[in-house]
Amino acid sequence: MAQFFNPNRGKSRANTSKRQQYLLGEVSKLDHQGRGILRQQGTYFVAGALPGERIRVQTQAKHQARLVEVVEASDERVTPPCPYYQRCGGCDLQHLSLAQQRQHKQQTLAELLSKFAAIEVTDWAPMLTGEGWHYRQRARLASSYARGQRFQLGFRQRASQQVVAIEHCQVLAPPLAALLVPLQQWLGEHYQRIGLGHVELIAQPTPLVLLRVTRALDDEFVQQAEQFAAQHGCQLWSDDGQQTRAITAADEVRLTHHPLPLNFTPGDFIQVNQALNPAMVAQALSWLEATADDQVVELFAGMGNFSLPLAQQVKQLHCFEVSARMIQQLQDNAAAAGLSHVRGHAVDLNHDWLSRLNSMRIDKLLLDPARSGAQAALAQLQQLPAAQRPTRIVYISCAADTLARDSALLKQLGYGISKAGVIDMFPQTHHIEAMVAFAKE
Ligand SMILES: C[S@@+](CC[C@H](N)C(=O)[O-])C[C@H]1O[C@@H](n2cnc3c(N)ncnc32)[C@H](O)[C@@H]1O
Repeated sequence: MAQFFNPNRGKSRANTSKRQQYLLGEVSKLDHQGRGILRQQGTYFVAGALPGERIRVQTQAKHQARLVEVVEASDERVTPPCPYYQRCGGCDLQHLSLAQQRQHKQQTLAELLSKFAAIEVTDWAPMLTGEGWHYRQRARLASSYARGQRFQLGFRQRASQQVVAIEHCQVLAPPLAALLVPLQQWLGEHYQRIGLGHVELIAQPTPLVLLRVTRALDDEFVQQAEQFAAQHGCQLWSDDGQQTRAITAADEVRLTHHPLPLNFTPGDFIQVNQALNPAMVAQALSWLEATADDQVVELFAGMGNFSLPLAQQVKQLHCFEVSARMIQQLQDNAAAAGLSHVRGHAVDLNHDWLSRLNSMRIDKLLLDPARSGAQAALAQLQQLPAAQRPTRIVYISCAADTLARDSALLKQLGYGISKAGVIDMFPQTHHIEAMVAFAKE
């Protein structure tokens, strides 16, 4: 079965090169960004291509090639159901069956750990999985209103700043997806008077729309917002860079699937796949093996997703997080749950955090960094005498490459991997959420 691809897909003036040529060859495997690897007169990374497929490509920048035609398709190729798949930068693995996406993610994690840390995982946990679609409880939409063009609200195009206007999205939670068309129409009438930037959609606890604005909101807009909110059953909030506030009547903003009451401020980090989050938190706590005598440290703590359930099991918990607002929220959430032994530190973990602990022994360490990983934060463990270093570390990661790099560092510090597993938090995309437990060897 031959499949033809939109020749404009991914094409931009910046990567048009005089060295462009057409090549025909077989894809050997996927890389960690979900691109097919073609070794034909060099090595090329090809978005949209699958292992075993015979493809025709047009070379672009160094090592980049654009898929022109699938000459022989893989049995694992499926027809992407999303009408925006060709242009939207969001769900870049929709053309691969869900079972194979999952297999690819675990295999990629194993390969990266082997390549960058020389670690072969022997104990793989069963993957934590959920729904393949409609799972996103939080999404950021970009807006665009270039002169002479109609207002657009949607996701960014692949490898570009262009916005693809989106009316349907099959990975968004249905209450959020239902807001796409009404928001596009309503904000199309108001974007100039409020100086609209991006728009964040949050499904917890009821649909919530956060507008990033650069102008003060006048009474007429607020009235219109109230009408919109009543008609579409949502809350509207604004963020002007200084303050985040409710424009319309607002309920408490709280995670609904979490075992403990966790309030948060719209715009602050929450896990996008809230249906899988409780299983991830439970697994992290079980792998950490913390006891009632333990002094525990958590890095990149946010507003307390792991912290509160963890605090219930341990003697003392120190939480570190760069956002002062989130660490305040974490402390408020802990206080509301009666957990007075939780101490929050608003600290940039690229800089010294260890001195905050006054030479305290760390029994267990849990960390959940952003994609850039935790190299600078973990390197500081070297300053501790070996007896004061944690006996177990649980590392939750949303980027397998930086996890592998940081695993090499932990290995140098005397840790081995006792367990690893993938959490299928972002189906249809190449993004890999992983959890690894390290133990002192
Ligand atoms: C992947 S989120 C995890 C948050 C939390 N563990 C959760 O599950 O909700 C990463 C967190 O790291 C924080 N962060 C990012 N860079 C940081 C830095 N340099 N120092 C400290 N915290 C940082 C972010 O603000 C965010 O809350």
